[in-house]
Amino acid sequence: MNQMTPPPKLEIIPSSAPFSEAQRSWLNGFFAGLLSTDAPTALSAEQGAAVLQGDGDDGEAPWHDQTMPIADRMKLAEGRPLRRRMMAAMAQQDCGQCGYNCNDYSEAIASKGEARLNLCVPGGKETARMLKALNEELENAPPASPGSNAPPAVTLGEPGRSRDNPVPAKFISRRLLNKGKSEKETWHIEFDLSGCGLDYVVGDSFGIFARNDLGLVDQIIAMLGASHTTEVRGKTLREVLLDDVSLAPAPDSLFDLISYLTGGAVREKARALAQGEDPDGDAATLDVMAVLQKFSNVRPHPEAFIEALEPLQPRLYSISSSHNATPGKLSLTVDCVRYVIGKRKRLGLASTFLAERINPGDELKVYVQKAHGFALPEDPKIPIIMVGPGTGVAPFRAFLMDRRATGAPGKNWLFFGHQRSECDFFYSDNALKTSGLLTRLSLAWSRDGDKKFYVQDRMREVGREVWTWLAEGAHVYVCGDAKRMAKDVERALVDIIAQFGARSTDEAISFVAELKKKGRFQQDVY
Ligand SMILES: Cc1cc2nc3c(=O)[nH]c(=O)nc-3n(C[C@H](O)[C@H](O)[C@H](O)COP(=O)(O)OP(=O)(O)OC[C@H]3O[C@@H](n4cnc5c(N)ncnc54)[C@H](O)[C@@H]3O)c2cc1C
Ligand SMILES: NC(=O)c1ccc[n+]([C@@H]2O[C@H](COP(=O)([O-])OP(=O)(O)OC[C@H]3O[C@@H](n4cnc5c(N)ncnc54)[C@H](OP(=O)(O)O)[C@@H]3O)[C@@H](O)[C@H]2O)c1
Repeated sequence: MNQMTPPPKLEIIPSSAPFSEAQRSWLNGFFAGLLSTDAPTALSAEQGAAVLQGDGDDGEAPWHDQTMPIADRMKLAEGRPLRRRMMAAMAQQDCGQCGYNCNDYSEAIASKGEARLNLCVPGGKETARMLKALNEELENAPPASPGSNAPPAVTLGEPGRSRDNPVPAKFISRRLLNKGKSEKETWHIEFDLSGCGLDYVVGDSFGIFARNDLGLVDQIIAMLGASHTTEVRGKTLREVLLDDVSLAPAPDSLFDLISYLTGGAVREKARALAQGEDPDGDAATLDVMAVLQKFSNVRPHPEAFIEALEPLQPRLYSISSSHNATPGKLSLTVDCVRYVIGKRKRLGLASTFLAERINPGDELKVYVQKAHGFALPEDPKIPIIMVGPGTGVAPFRAFLMDRRATGAPGKNWLFFGHQRSECDFFYSDNALKTSGLLTRLSLAWSRDGDKKFYVQDRMREVGREVWTWLAEGAHVYVCGDAKRMAKDVERALVDIIAQFGARSTDEAISFVAELKKKGRFQQDVY
């Protein structure tokens, strides 16, 4: 019988660390296991956080699905610690607009490192309301340690590397990418970064601070019965409305303000709206202007009015150029948001700013948002499959330009799709088609025929070759619409793996999960 020698006891967690004896012993065992060569199982970031915070949460996030409604997400998070329920309240896109991913933003709020509850742009008012309610729980909880209720210190970070510390860049030009009778308005936008010295890596996004539309601002000033020179916060009312506050959608605090200034049925209505109810069935259409029109007898004082509005948020765009190919320059591919409600045209803030309210030579505030898990493979020989319908093509133009600039020999396959071949084939004249950059280009036009035909339909048609590329080690990238496209493309990939890789559906789902874990399936969706 072999004599078993007990392994030496590792003391990795210092005795001064804030853990009980049992926790310290468990953590020592865990880290010892992690450091030993024959125990490769590491915890995820969430699991690690759960362990370190010692609240017994298993770190799983079954609600982390951008297509799931908030009510279902919150149900899945019932009974979890506050920080986990806060994560479930986020839009689950990990899009980076808040400056974090969903998990880190919720951790930051729960640990009181972040005081702003309104940063989740895709989550909109639903997320902001839920976070407010959860934050009240947090505020009412006894402080974990003396001083832990102190306001968080603001860390600005390196200039131009976060939404909290933007730098000026110069707008150079815009060029319409759609032709003829397209139903879309998509712009190729160029910036000069030489003045601010910013650089970036392909896969990163670009944050921009836009200005509101002057016409809308002046209509609001007129509705308030104010003058545009009225001074608010040390600036004119017009300047504040142009640059500092969001004019869509109307925040609950504006309904609250209106309820304080009025009475009776009108007050009840404003109160109901402030609580997320929809007494007239129009809540989803109420931007700030529409609220002033709806409650046209109420005239808030400009100062109180501005206080009731939310700060203007930056918008992120996938960078469609490569710093290696065109140093000092940066381009975006921007779909313009315009729609009509009732008789009024509504303008997407940043997309229409870039399309019509900024002129060549003008400066704007910008920052580079580092990509987390969306990057070219480190090995330039690895083949890549890119799926990017519509503006989803943006980072792939950047990938291709970068691979050309760096002489990367790996094969490149792009699935691009849009409405009509005749007028919506972006960049058909240059990088995407010519110069042998693309090994394969597969196209899908959704409105050319009688039936919708999407990128994932094209992928299914050439599934055998997709599988061959995967078997050769290809990395797969998906960019564009988060709500439907990304899920549908993932489903197609599962079907292809099942069919051509001779696997059951469950095995194919695990195969895709494994690709994700290894960084071989990456998404940039919004
Ligand atoms: C990481 C990342 C990368 C991105 N990359 C790109 C990119 O490369 N190109 C790109 O174009 N966009 C991209 N986006 C989206 C972009 O950030 C903006 O969300 C988009 O341009 C709209 O912003 P906006 O300010 O113009 O519109 P907003 O003022 O934010 O208005 C948009 C809102 O208007 C409402 N709305 C829109 N259409 C309608 C309608 N028909 N009826 C009723 N309401 C409507 C919706 O509530 C919508 O959320 C990206 C987003 C992220 C997070
Ligand atoms: N929330 C929404 O309802 C919605 C919808 C579309 C776009 N968007 C947003 O609009 C912005 C820009 O859009 P974009 O210019 O990139 O183009 P887009 O409007 O997303 O469309 C690009 C192409 O994708 C097709 N498409 C639609 N549904 C799809 C699906 N489930 N799977 C695969 N392809 C699908 C479109 O076809 P058809 O249009 O012919 O169906 C079109 O051919 C993005 O921010 C996007 O998220 C939002």
